Amino acid sequence: MSKSKVLLVSMVVVAALVVSASVSMASPIVIKFSHVVAENTPKGQMANKFKQLVDERLGGKVLVEVFPNSQLFGDKKVLEAMLLGDVQMAAPSLSKFKKYTKSLQIFDLPFLFKDMKAVEKFQKGPVGQKLLMATKKKGLIGLGYLHNGLKQLSSNEPLRVPADAKGKKFRIMSSDVLAAQFEAVGALPLKKPFSEVFTLLQTNAIDGQENTWSNIYSKKFYEVQPFITESNHGVLDYLVVTSAEFWMGLDEGIRAKLKTALDEAIAFGNKVAAEKAISDRQKIIDSGRSKVLQLTDAERQQWVNVMKPVWKKFEDQIGKDYIEAAVKSN
Ligand code: LMR
Repeated sequence: MSKSKVLLVSMVVVAALVVSASVSMASPIVIKFSHVVAENTPKGQMANKFKQLVDERLGGKVLVEVFPNSQLFGDKKVLEAMLLGDVQMAAPSLSKFKKYTKSLQIFDLPFLFKDMKAVEKFQKGPVGQKLLMATKKKGLIGLGYLHNGLKQLSSNEPLRVPADAKGKKFRIMSSDVLAAQFEAVGALPLKKPFSEVFTLLQTNAIDGQENTWSNIYSKKFYEVQPFITESNHGVLDYLVVTSAEFWMGLDEGIRAKLKTALDEAIAFGNKVAAEKAISDRQKIIDSGRSKVLQLTDAERQQWVNVMKPVWKKFEDQIGKDYIEAAVKSN
């Protein structure tokens, strides 16, 4: 080999070494995952599982940082922050997307789904899959649904029939459907962030709220609410979202691996949700702090009769065909 060729080959080798060193030293892609619930909940467990899987499979390339308990962003700010690039993933309740789409309001319609099996069926079906992209025009992509479970009504006084809720103040998530649902029983709904609920209940600024067993347990609402009516009147599930700009800007291979890890984390979170709906309910009963009330069929029917007309009000915004598809999943 001539001297000049040797020189050229060594220059190429040096250049390659420099490039590979700088790639391996390149700082990882950071995914900040912000959520509002405790770690010991379906969403908390799902986010931690996602982090664990990404560490195992993409360690060094992608770093997931999970921020629970509204530490980074609360309900109001997280989606705006996502569009600004300050957070990359979150899983707000499906009730918190009002500013981005009207279609997801379907999940708030009272007494729409018979049980979580029906919810799962609807989400997996064509309408549910289409709804994952309902916020895309606004720059947010739904990567999947995550379950929490069916909601119960908690209060400072026993609620057996709708008349018992009349005139009472209930904290709700930021959803117009939920507001209409409480107005239908003559109650006063107040849209408040999740982080404020415990204090509002403790100070009697509100009389009650609706939530899942795992949220009522993990945030200790049952310690300041002497009665919980097992109403199963609606669903509280999540949309795992990311910003379209962030997601589509990722290298294809990395994006595919992240999606697989997320799907597995969601499947895990869904198992946690199913278990906690049973175990957290039991822990609340065992605590003796809150009395869990069962409704008779006739009592439950009264709630259905007053709340179900709310569907009609939102039919145009949601789409009658979507509602029919949801009913069919029962
Ligand atoms: C709520 O605000 O009550 C829930 O959406 C909290 C959550 O994320 O489960």
